[in-house]
Amino acid sequence: MNDMDTLKEQLETLFYWFHEHPELSYEEYETTAKIKEFLISHNIEIVPYELETGLVAVIPGKQDGPIQMLRCDIDALPIIEQTELSYRSKIEGKMHACGHDMHIVAGLGCAVLLQENREKLRGTVKIIFQPAEEAATGAEKILETDVMKDVKFAWGFHADPTNPVGTIGIREGYVTAAVDRFVITVKGVGCHGAHPDDGIDPILVSSAIVQALQSIVSRNINPFHPALLSVTRINAGTTWNVIPPEAFMEGTVRTLDKEDRVLYEKRVKEVAEKTALAYGAKALVEWIPGPPATYNDKKMAKWCQKRAKEQGMKVVPEESSLGGDDFAFFQEEIPGCYVKIGTGVGPTIHHPEFKVDPEVLLPATKYLAGLFIMS
Ligand code: NI
Repeated sequence: MNDMDTLKEQLETLFYWFHEHPELSYEEYETTAKIKEFLISHNIEIVPYELETGLVAVIPGKQDGPIQMLRCDIDALPIIEQTELSYRSKIEGKMHACGHDMHIVAGLGCAVLLQENREKLRGTVKIIFQPAEEAATGAEKILETDVMKDVKFAWGFHADPTNPVGTIGIREGYVTAAVDRFVITVKGVGCHGAHPDDGIDPILVSSAIVQALQSIVSRNINPFHPALLSVTRINAGTTWNVIPPEAFMEGTVRTLDKEDRVLYEKRVKEVAEKTALAYGAKALVEWIPGPPATYNDKKMAKWCQKRAKEQGMKVVPEESSLGGDDFAFFQEEIPGCYVKIGTGVGPTIHHPEFKVDPEVLLPATKYLAGLFIMS
């Protein structure tokens, strides 16, 4: 067996283990221990940052170059796996349904190849095994350490079940949206269901607010800018013949443009508060900002395309999405590029039947290492 066959086998064994042992955001203790064990067995340096879960490996190259980072997120989802895989989740109710198991393994494989090719490695690469991407706060945990202070370029990737293995989706410009959450409490006056005139019905007010919020995208946002608002939860009332005193709703706003994001926050507040006022009720709006939009640097995207083609991969335009990724936090200050690696066509990410074809592990590893190694 040659070195690549050995590596392929190691990566597959690791992948099966990670898939069988999914851990949710901030609970990635065993995952972190396994990553550590593998890195140590390959003499790869681990940076002693104060992280409860997740860790940072560093590979210093022997050629001049900048410090760069590769982000690999490591957490799983609270989903009951419904695949028939021999290595399906052993933990009931938890599943690697977003491919982060593949992200970990490709990151580990990349670390090995970089370590083995330090003579040809330009600058230093920090591989960040990041916790809690699904909670959208793990990147900020990493940023609380000083790991990013000397980093000049940020690279990220994601499993893509819309493309076969051997395909890579790359796009310049925006690829994921800014993700914000809003929570609205509508305060009315409760009363008997047969005497609405005695109260102020917060359910009627809420329905008016839901309708009015959709006018923001159609009347306030530039029609050439992708943006959306979804009200995803409404709670009110306890029974059929009582008008409750309060209603509660929440949802999400997705934008690409920075000014649209600011405008949305202002308009959601105005629309909710003033609509409520028109009915004699009161709306309290809480705005909870999440990650900004991910913006792929032009030069870095071109580099990703070049390296992918050199390795015989098919390059396709990356689907832009109003989904989010907290990778965006890393490239707020420095240029970054986030690509999608085809993992075999099948059910979408976050689906209980989502699968990654293990055949992607070695090519993904080689592709990622190729971003940093001189050819
Ligand atoms: Ni994901």
